[in-house]
Amino acid sequence: MTGSGPKDFAEIAARYSAMMQVLCDGPQGRRREDERRMLVDRIRDALDRRENRLNDDDPVIIANTFSLEMFTHRGKRSEIWQVRHRDLGTSHAIKSVPAAMADDPIAGALLLREGTIGLGMRHGNIAPTRAVLRLADGRPALLMDWIGKSLADRLSLQALSVREVYSLTLALLAALTATHDQGLVHCDVAPGNLLIPGEDVSQLQLADFGIALEIGHSHAEFEIAHAGSPAFVSPEQQAGRSLMPSSDIYSLGRLIDYLLDHANEDAAGLRALAGQFSKEDAGKRPADARSAGALLKKVMAAG
Ligand SMILES: Nc1ncnc2c1ncn2[C@@H]1O[C@H](COP(=O)(O)OP(=O)(O)OP(=O)(O)O)[C@@H](O)[C@H]1O
Ligand SMILES: [Mg+2]
Repeated sequence: MTGSGPKDFAEIAARYSAMMQVLCDGPQGRRREDERRMLVDRIRDALDRRENRLNDDDPVIIANTFSLEMFTHRGKRSEIWQVRHRDLGTSHAIKSVPAAMADDPIAGALLLREGTIGLGMRHGNIAPTRAVLRLADGRPALLMDWIGKSLADRLSLQALSVREVYSLTLALLAALTATHDQGLVHCDVAPGNLLIPGEDVSQLQLADFGIALEIGHSHAEFEIAHAGSPAFVSPEQQAGRSLMPSSDIYSLGRLIDYLLDHANEDAAGLRALAGQFSKEDAGKRPADARSAGALLKKVMAAG
């Protein structure tokens, strides 16, 4: 090596060759291909993590492609893991049912349904589902992009400005418009299901289509018992009735109220609009996200 390279590069190269040698030839002669590949992966893993020693534990490898970085959520119905693609280095989220529910046919079918819905949704403000995998123990799993913190996490750390509340609401309305246009009601618009990559809230990603319904259907048809986040679900959803897009508008109204409660100032026009969105009588709310968006733009223009 010439120029700016380290003076001991020749020694580093020699040690690298020695390491490759030991990876190919073990104490019993030539190693098997699978053993060699496993050792290479573990070294690559340690290098990626900038660790100066190899981990003694076997890393958890999913679908022979992803290594587990951490468990991030263990809920009643779902587990979320942060994983890394072993070859590309990209970060992803994997959502599956808890191991204890591996044999539960309803839980498995609901996750597959969520995966099918996710694969059919493509929008800049909707968390993308990239594939539906099958884990070694048979559980289905959704492969998603790793997005970042949820709005619930974010609000526990810092207050929002009113400008951010508007920005968030616009992004969420864009995601809900795409959802309603697809013939779906999301049914779980709540801070834990809104993910924010980085600091810019306008990049919000709507996630968790786990209890989404085709317009005009009810949760009872899918054996989903307690559906939704209680503080945000519409009265008709709570009553188990069939749902229209206006049910999501109710949740949006509750969410705007909640955001303003976590903002560093109030905004009378937006508060009033939130009240209109979350009217008990579904007929008095905007019918869907597109009409709610038109009302929001009027409020923004006025104030
Ligand atoms: N793609 C993702 N990137 C980053 N974090 C994610 C992602 N998907 C989910 N999470 C994290 O996992 C949490 C739970 O995910 P999700 O809402 O999809 O599960 P859930 O169906 O509500 O689970 P349960 O009902 O069992 O609590 C989210 O609040 C978020 O913190
Ligand atoms: Mg959720």
